[in-house]
Amino acid sequence: MHEKESQLSSKNVLQCIGASDAGVDEETVVRHVVVVGAGTMGRGIAQVAAVAGITTFLVDVEDAALLRAQTQIQDTLAGSVTRGKLTSSEAETAFDRIRSTVTLGDVVPGAELVVEAIVENLAEKRALFSELDTIAESDALLATNTSSLSVASIASATRSPERVVGMHFFNPAHIMKLVEVVAHSSASSLSIERATEMSSLMGKHPIVVRDSPGFASSRLGVVLGLEAMRMLQEDVASAEDIDTAMELGYGHSMGPLRVSDLVGLDVRLSVAEYLYEKLGTALFEPPAILKKKVRVGELGKKTGKGFYEWPKTS
Ligand code: NAI
Repeated sequence: MHEKESQLSSKNVLQCIGASDAGVDEETVVRHVVVVGAGTMGRGIAQVAAVAGITTFLVDVEDAALLRAQTQIQDTLAGSVTRGKLTSSEAETAFDRIRSTVTLGDVVPGAELVVEAIVENLAEKRALFSELDTIAESDALLATNTSSLSVASIASATRSPERVVGMHFFNPAHIMKLVEVVAHSSASSLSIERATEMSSLMGKHPIVVRDSPGFASSRLGVVLGLEAMRMLQEDVASAEDIDTAMELGYGHSMGPLRVSDLVGLDVRLSVAEYLYEKLGTALFEPPAILKKKVRVGELGKKTGKGFYEWPKTS
C-alpha cells in the first residue's frame, strides 16, 4: 500500500471527486460518503465504507488527525490482510478509496450520506449539522454517530430534521457488527429505512432504537463499565480480574475496563455525565477514578495508558 501524499488541500480533493467513480462497484447504491471527524470512530467508519466499495471522504478540523487516521487505517487494513479477511489488493483498493480533507464544503455536496463522528458535545454537533444542512444535497441522509446524545436535539439544528438519524457504530468499527439506527420523532420512515439499508451495505447488522438517552447499547454498557470502575476503586479485585470475571463467568468477549480503555475514558466520562444528568440515577454518576484518569490525560488506548498499559503495537 503506498503512502498517501499531500491529499489534504482542497484542490487535490476536488480532483479526487472527478475520479471518484474509479473502483466503485456498479451495484453499489451508495457511491459517495463523507465521514466528519477522523478520530477513533471516524477513521473506522471511513474504512468500513471504503471496504464496502464506497468512495469515502474523511474530514477533520486538524491535519494531524487526518494524517494519523491514514496511518491507522493502513495498519488496520494490513491486519485484516494478515488475518485473511481481505486480500492485499482489496486492502489497497479500499485504502485508495479514502480521501482526506479539512474543507467540509469541498466534499459534502454530492454525498448521499454524511456520518458525523466528532466530539461528544451537543453544541458542537448542532453547529456542524446546521452547516451540513446548508451544503449537503437536499436528499442526502445526515447521520450522527453519537453514543448517547439526543438525536432530536442534533436534528433540530437543521431545517430538515426528517433526514437526520443516528447511525451508532461500535468500536472497533471494522470488527463490531452492530449499528444502532436511532429514530427520533421527526425522522422520516424513509430516512430510517435508508440508514438501515446503508448499514447493511456496509456489512453491519442494524437495529432500530428509539431516541432515548444512551439508546439500547450505551445505557447498559456504561452502567457495567462504571460499576467495574467503582469496584476497582473499592479494591474488590484487580482490573484484570474484574475483566476476567465478565469474560469467563459471563461469556463477554472483553471485560468492561478493557472496553472502556478502547472507547476512550474521556468519551466514557462525557457519556456518563450526560446519562447521569438525563436519567438521574446514581448508576451513571461518574466515579472519582474515571474523573482522575481523564484529568491526568490517561485516556486509554489512544494515549497509551488507562486502566491498562497500551504499548504502541497493541
Ligand atoms: P475522538 O476524540 O477520537 O475523535 C474526534 C475527532 O473529531 C477529532 O479528530 C477532532 O479533531 C475531530 N473534530 C472535532 N470537532 C470537529 C469538527 N467540527 N469538524 C471536524 N472534525 C472535528 O472521538 P471518537 O472516540 O471517535 O468519538 C466520536 C463520536 O463517536 C462521539 O460522538 C462518540 O460518542 C461516538 N462514539 C465513540 C465510540 C468510541 O468507542 N470511542 C463508540 C461509538 C460512538
